[in-house]
Amino acid sequence: MPERVLCQSQDLLERGLAQRFTLQWGGRERSAFVFRYDGGVYAYINECAHIPIELDFNPGDFFDYSHSWLVCSTHGAYYAPNTGLCLGGPCSGRKLISLPVREYANQVYLIEEQHE
Ligand code: FES
Repeated sequence: MPERVLCQSQDLLERGLAQRFTLQWGGRERSAFVFRYDGGVYAYINECAHIPIELDFNPGDFFDYSHSWLVCSTHGAYYAPNTGLCLGGPCSGRKLISLPVREYANQVYLIEEQHE
């Protein structure tokens, strides 16, 4: 499976700012983001499960003040960083679209799949 370098490992601080990127998904270009949480790396399409708009308040700023949850800046839905499950807000029980990523040799990679 082809892989694409998204960023350097050092670019992702624990529960810090995410790195935004774009990819082709569902036949069009989509915004996505990758971040570090509890030592692991996670990536999602940057689209709220409530209304399909971007989540971040400022570019790359997805975590709440406690750095425990990903929060939608529009209506405040909050998501578990490691699963993308919405735990509160207007889309409770729905999930962000996760993307496969992995980290090795000090780089973070998107595992590219075909999404027609
Ligand atoms: S658009 Fe995200 S909670 Fe409404």
